[in-house]
Amino acid sequence: MSTPFQISRRSFLRRCAVTSALTGVPLWFVQRDLEALAQQAAPKLPSANDRINIAQIGCGGMGSGDAQGAASRTNVVAVCDVDESHAKGLATRLAKNGKTPDVYTDFRKMLQRDDIHALINSTPDHWHSLINIAAARAKKDVYGQKPLTLTIDEGHHVVKAIRDNKTVFQTGSQQRSDRRFRLACELVRNGRIGKLHTVHVFVPAGLVGGPFASSAAPASLNWDFWQGQTPAVDYVKERCHANFRWWFEYAAGPVSDWGAHHNDIARWAIGLDGPVAIEGKPLTTPVAGGYNTPSEFEATLTWGNGVKQIVRTTPDDTPYGGVIKKDGQRNGIKFEGTEGWIWVNRGNLDASKEEIYTTPLPESATHLEVSLDHLGNFLECIRTRKDPIAHAEVGHRSASIGHLIAIAIRSGKPLQWDPAKEVFVGENASVGNPYLVREMRKPYDYSFIA
Ligand SMILES: NC(=O)c1ccc[n+]([C@@H]2O[C@H](COP(=O)([O-])OP(=O)(O)OC[C@H]3O[C@@H](n4cnc5c(N)ncnc54)[C@H](O)[C@@H]3O)[C@@H](O)[C@H]2O)c1
Repeated sequence: MSTPFQISRRSFLRRCAVTSALTGVPLWFVQRDLEALAQQAAPKLPSANDRINIAQIGCGGMGSGDAQGAASRTNVVAVCDVDESHAKGLATRLAKNGKTPDVYTDFRKMLQRDDIHALINSTPDHWHSLINIAAARAKKDVYGQKPLTLTIDEGHHVVKAIRDNKTVFQTGSQQRSDRRFRLACELVRNGRIGKLHTVHVFVPAGLVGGPFASSAAPASLNWDFWQGQTPAVDYVKERCHANFRWWFEYAAGPVSDWGAHHNDIARWAIGLDGPVAIEGKPLTTPVAGGYNTPSEFEATLTWGNGVKQIVRTTPDDTPYGGVIKKDGQRNGIKFEGTEGWIWVNRGNLDASKEEIYTTPLPESATHLEVSLDHLGNFLECIRTRKDPIAHAEVGHRSASIGHLIAIAIRSGKPLQWDPAKEVFVGENASVGNPYLVREMRKPYDYSFIA
């Protein structure tokens, strides 16, 4: 056989064996992937002239990594941050062959440029939607960090803008492009552990801290712009860079952090849009004047097919049936069925019996979409105009799980959800539904990007 890279069968098998040994993913699955890729036309390698021009919005921790990943395979021509020091710092780090990306502090100005084809949006959660919508309207394709939105209502606006403008959109849920997670989901979908009845999602606990004092904002930071749609407060360092995730104003704590990744995979394995019932409770009490998302929580979701999903934070030394200790990590997903279990996270795939994953699935099995490279999948889709593996609807439905859990925790009521209509129904509907949308502080509402 020939492969996209025109290598011999022997080298192909050697490559499969090495990948299998390095990742712990069984040889049959690696081989199946690479053989499937071999059937596809080799991707057209872009010449220097037809490289995609990318702009990076949000130049903090993740944005720096995202931009550097993009710069290694295409052109990053502009960077934007409301903290100018972050944008300038990243531009300097990206300088290459005498060229430095242009620096912006207002994404609307940057979006006016015709030579920008796509953006990477790595801003905090409360800015995701407005920027993604503005980019879609400006006919730019978007790689937008997870979770897709701050609220479920925002998801409808984002999906509509992406579809109306025929934008290629990839949510930054890169576990969808990780072979280990896809294998776990395929095994579950194809009944390898019998009938799935319980999914355990373990996410690392969040931070506990406070009370925090306000101070003058750094000169390089436009604090009002950073706060955007959220209620205006005095600058507090611990609300801003990196720590925004521990505040309900800007995110939802552990459930929107690692939870966005693992709940996405749980949903991929379950294969449904959303749960029908959600209960949640905080297990810790935030410090007054400090981070206001509980560092620990537990939630139970019931899906329409009867599957229970238990989402829990995992502090140190919590012995979940030995699974976590064996794996040496505190976050991941355990699928339990009538005939066994599968555990998966970024480092490891394990099962109650080795045969669960060492025995190949038959040709007739349900196969999930293959992507082995999340950014590469996005870049390829920019050319083909196909939907990437974590397109906007995937991002919206998976982000909704975290939002539903956060609403259950905040409202303190058991909630029933209609995944088709995307509203709460039943006894506590009037408690849950007001949380679906938030008032946006002017001028940072939808008119800001009109
Ligand atoms: N996919 C992953 O594995 C992964 C990992 C970490 C973070 N993330 C996601 O990436 C996002 C950013 O997280 P982070 O840890 O890098 O945060 P961060 O605070 O380090 O960086 C965010 C940056 O965005 C800037 N910013 C805020 N509002 C802006 C605006 N309107 N326009 C331009 N810039 C703006 C901030 O000034 C800051 O520099 C979050 O949504 C997070 O969930 C994803």
